[in-house]
Amino acid sequence: MSAPVAVIIRPMERSDLDAVLAIEQDAYPNPWKLEHFIQELHSPLAIPFVAVQDQTVIGYLCLMSLFEEAQILNVAVARLQRGKGIARLLMDTAIRTARERGAELLTLEVRESNRAAIALYESYGFVRYFVRRGYYEGTEDAILMEKTLL
Ligand SMILES: CC(C)(COP(=O)(O)OP(=O)(O)OC[C@H]1O[C@@H](n2cnc3c(N)ncnc32)[C@H](O)[C@@H]1OP(=O)(O)O)[C@@H](O)C(=O)NCCC(=O)NCCS
Repeated sequence: MSAPVAVIIRPMERSDLDAVLAIEQDAYPNPWKLEHFIQELHSPLAIPFVAVQDQTVIGYLCLMSLFEEAQILNVAVARLQRGKGIARLLMDTAIRTARERGAELLTLEVRESNRAAIALYESYGFVRYFVRRGYYEGTEDAILMEKTLL
């Protein structure tokens, strides 16, 4: 029996974007466009990561860090790779990096119906602090969540 292939978390690169976009388009009704990810690669405040297994990008997380506050802007895992702890590897890296950058608070927003993501965030101690009514398509609420890093 061969050993499971390790998953590596590393900074996102321009050459990852085809794979990232494919995951993004499958994951969201209103996916980010290529330009959005390119912006993440160039912004000094943005810290985008990918999860790679056997040279294939299977997930990513976009973190933004500005003084005391960091924000998770996007996290997604390829559909066939879900439920294997990949998001946890990405979240662990994001939380560690945010702390290293001096952030004291980590925030994010999530669709109210996204039970998998909310369960993931709650398992890391994120708590709800605001509801943006009708934020998505004018009908679905956005739940704003935060986690203290101190
Ligand atoms: C949310 C998402 C990133 C989770 O990725 P994943 O790699 O499958 O998650 P993991 O396997 O690391 O699971 C970590 C935790 O998340 C939660 N979770 C993940 N999938 C879940 C599901 N289907 N139902 C309930 N909880 C779930 C659990 O708390 C899980 O911990 P456990 O395995 O100890 O129970 C993935 O479902 C995804 O890409 N969804 C589409 C994009 C998206 O909605 N992103 C979030 C936008 S705010």
